Amino acid sequence: MTIYEKRRAAVARALKAAGGGIAVLPTAPELARNRDSDFAYRHDSYFYYLTGFSEPGAWLVITADGRSTLFCRPKDLEREIWDGIRLGPKAAPGALGVDAAFSADTLDEKMPLLLQNQKAVWYPIATHAGLETQVDGWLGKVRARIRFGAECPQSQHDLCKLLDEMRLVKDAHEVAILRRAGKISAGAHVRAMQTSAAMLRQPVPGGLREYHLEAELLHEFRRNGSQWPAYTSIVAAGANACVLHYRAGDAELKSGDLCLIDAGCELDGYASDITRTFPANGKFTPAQRRLYDIVLAAQDAAVKVTRPGKRFMDPHDAATRVLAQGMLDTGLLDRKKHGKVDDVLESGAYRQFYMHRTGHWMGMDVHDCGDYTEPGSKPREEKDALGQTVMRKPSRILRPGMVTTIEPGIYVRPAKGVPREFWNIGIRIEDDALVTAKGCELLTRGVPVDADEIEALMAG
Ligand code: GLY
Ligand code: MN
Ligand code: MN
Repeated sequence: MTIYEKRRAAVARALKAAGGGIAVLPTAPELARNRDSDFAYRHDSYFYYLTGFSEPGAWLVITADGRSTLFCRPKDLEREIWDGIRLGPKAAPGALGVDAAFSADTLDEKMPLLLQNQKAVWYPIATHAGLETQVDGWLGKVRARIRFGAECPQSQHDLCKLLDEMRLVKDAHEVAILRRAGKISAGAHVRAMQTSAAMLRQPVPGGLREYHLEAELLHEFRRNGSQWPAYTSIVAAGANACVLHYRAGDAELKSGDLCLIDAGCELDGYASDITRTFPANGKFTPAQRRLYDIVLAAQDAAVKVTRPGKRFMDPHDAATRVLAQGMLDTGLLDRKKHGKVDDVLESGAYRQFYMHRTGHWMGMDVHDCGDYTEPGSKPREEKDALGQTVMRKPSRILRPGMVTTIEPGIYVRPAKGVPREFWNIGIRIEDDALVTAKGCELLTRGVPVDADEIEALMAG
């Protein structure tokens, strides 16, 4: 049995446990970029998780009795000359282990027959434009056959909810790919750091630009077999690092600037997500180093509590405490005004310099699926990101196989009362952590994170 067959069998078991039913799942649509030119095609992650099939125009159907049916693009010599080989329905059972396969052209004709006499229908709700209408249409056709003895499914459920729980805990096959993706991305960060220092040692006409370093990242991703970046790379020179969703542009990196790179490749459908912040010329200034070491200490604190039995928010809380203390120690936050670290955590004053969370699930999607709160637990009073009291379930208990990023940062925009030496410094350090039996494994440490080690790497 392939991993995809095993996963489909698990879905069938879940349908059976829920009293029977049928699951219907389309892959992602193709997207036009502009005239005659599409965006590079990327399959739907859920669909790929259950099939390993990355052609567009396909649908998967699973029933509680364990049968799976694929609808895919029919063979078409003319289209295949232009766009590439299609698997086709005839070869699909052998290649993908599905029980039956049909041309996607027959979907509207066959779906009512597959849906009839099923107790419930499961499909991704509110994720594929027009899917609800399509399912309505098929159910309408089933209803029209009621007088011939057909029964119509009585309930509809979100298939994502079921798949999210499966995808949240990674299996050995997924972990192996995530490790490789992390390694490639780490190598790309090393290359970017080295190029940065080298290009400032031997200046080029026009200077060192953010896009030069982006090009190094892309080169390293692709030459190692990655299909594309897992998200748009951030290469931020100096003050640009304080813009959280900045993308690599054409700003010049000068000696004395910090450079923040947040970039990771996608490999065989799996993401990686790394941020490093380094001095463009290879040597931190004292002010940069001071803040850098605080962010690194915050990340260390978060890593220490990333282990089974801890909750998703524990690393965030650990990191935030270290950052808040660092903000008081450096004068970013005035003790006279803000008090001690517990006061800063209570008031949320640290949010002036640290406004995002310390992690997110990562897997097929860089911001991967999965509930962040513990299923089945009772809501309790908590503070939200704006410091308002809200009722919320406690955050998810970490289990082996979950993958989360750990990415604290400090971003200092010029403001009254903020020491000038820190103005426009933006620092984030991000690694991907696999929760293991006893703690966590950092998948992305092929690139140094310690300030002295970064300097050593960039020196030679
Ligand atoms: N690169 C996206 C993130 O760090 O969340
Ligand atoms: Mn991230
Ligand atoms: Mn990132």
